Amino acid sequence: MTTKGWRAERLSHLGSSIFAEVAEWKKAAIDRGVDVIDLSIGSPDLPPSQEIRSALSEAVLRDNAYGYPGSKGSVRFLKHASDWLAYRFGVQIDPEHELVSLMGSQDGLGHLALSLCNPGDIALLPDPGYPVYAAGLALAGVEPYLMPLREENQFLPEFDAIPEQVWQRTKFMLLNYPSNPVSATADLDFFKKAVAVAKQHNVLIVHDLAYSEMAFDGYRPPSILQVEGALDVAVEFHSLSKSFNMAGCRIGFLAGNREAVGALRELKANIDYGVFLPVQEAGIIALQEDMKGINKPVGTLYEKRRDQFVQALRSHGWEVPYPKATMFIWAKLPVMQWELSEPWDSRRISREMLERAGVAVIPGDAFGAEGEGYVRIALVESEERLVEAAARIGKFIRGEQQS
Ligand SMILES: Cc1ncc(COP(=O)(O)O)c(C=O)c1O
Repeated sequence: MTTKGWRAERLSHLGSSIFAEVAEWKKAAIDRGVDVIDLSIGSPDLPPSQEIRSALSEAVLRDNAYGYPGSKGSVRFLKHASDWLAYRFGVQIDPEHELVSLMGSQDGLGHLALSLCNPGDIALLPDPGYPVYAAGLALAGVEPYLMPLREENQFLPEFDAIPEQVWQRTKFMLLNYPSNPVSATADLDFFKKAVAVAKQHNVLIVHDLAYSEMAFDGYRPPSILQVEGALDVAVEFHSLSKSFNMAGCRIGFLAGNREAVGALRELKANIDYGVFLPVQEAGIIALQEDMKGINKPVGTLYEKRRDQFVQALRSHGWEVPYPKATMFIWAKLPVMQWELSEPWDSRRISREMLERAGVAVIPGDAFGAEGEGYVRIALVESEERLVEAAARIGKFIRGEQQS
C-alpha cells in the first residue's frame, strides 16, 4: 500500500543536517573504541548547586506538586524572575503582564514566530546563528532574512545594509549577545542603536540573553531592556540552563513588551501546561541565591577552562581568540601542515579532527553559510581534558601520529 506520505514537508526546512552528521561521526569513533573528547554540544557538564537540587527534591515529595502548573508560570516564579531582572539589570518588569515562564528559552524561541507573524512577514536572523531561530520561522512559514555577522564588524549586524523593502515586511529582528556560536558581545550603545532602528522601522527586537551570567574578566553582559523605551519594541529571552547549570530542568522566561509577551502567552495557553512546579521552585532558589550573592558565578569555572584551553591551543600554533563570554570558542580554521586530497573546509577539518584526534567540534557552517571557515568548540569538559584535547589537536594540525 502506498501512503500519502506521513511526514510533513515543513520538516525538510528544519535544522541543519550537519549536527546529525557530527553525531554519526562521533558514534562511529566511539564504536571503534576511540576515547572521544566531546566539545561539540553546549550542554553544561556540571550539576546545579546543592541548594537548587535540595529544593527540587523537596518539592517533588509534596502531594500538591503534580497538578498542571499553568502555562504562564506560577505567581511566585514570575515575581522572582521580575525581582532578579531588577537586581541584575535594574529594569522594572511587571510580572503579571510582561513575563512568561518557558520550558527552556528554546520553547519560546521555537514558538515565537507562530505567535507573532502573519503570512508574508519576514524575520531578521543572525548568520551564523543558533539553529532554533530558523527552525521557529520554518514552523511558522515565515521567511528569514539573514544578517551576516562578520569579524570585521565585531560580529554585529549592519542595520544600514538591510534594504527598505525588507524592513517594510519585517515583524521582528533576532539578536543574541553574548552569542552562540560566535561568542561575540554587545554593549549598551549597540542596544540603544538597535532600539532606535526598531522604532524607526516599526519592528520588534527579540533578544536572546541565554549567556547573561557566563561571562569573564569581570564583564557583565547588559540587557536590552536597560535601554530607555525598550519595552515599546523589545522582548528578551532568559534561561536558567547555563546560568545555574539547569539545562535538563527546562526553565527560562521571556520578559519585555506586553503585547508580544501576551501573544506568546496566548499561544502557549493552547499548547502546553507550563513548567513542572518543582522545577519552578528550584528556579526560584537559583534566582534567590543569585540575588543574595551566594551563587558561585558560573563564569569563574568557564573562565579557567577558557584560559587553559586557549593558551594550550596557541602553544600548538592555533591562534584562537579569548572569548569574553559564553562556553564557546569560535575559531578560524587552523593553518594545516598537511594536505587532504580536497581543500580543507570547516566540515573536513571537523571530520578529520574527530577521526584522527578523537576531538569532536561543530563545523561553523552548521550555523549558517557565514560560519564556513570556522569551527565551534564548546568548553564542556574538565580543564585536564581540554588541555589533552589541545595536545591532540596540535598533533592533528602537524599531521603527527596520535600516541
Ligand atoms: C543562544 C542560545 N539560546 C537559547 C538556548 C536554549 O536554552 P534553553 O536551555 O533555555 O532552552 C541555547 C542553548 O544552547 C543557546 O545557546
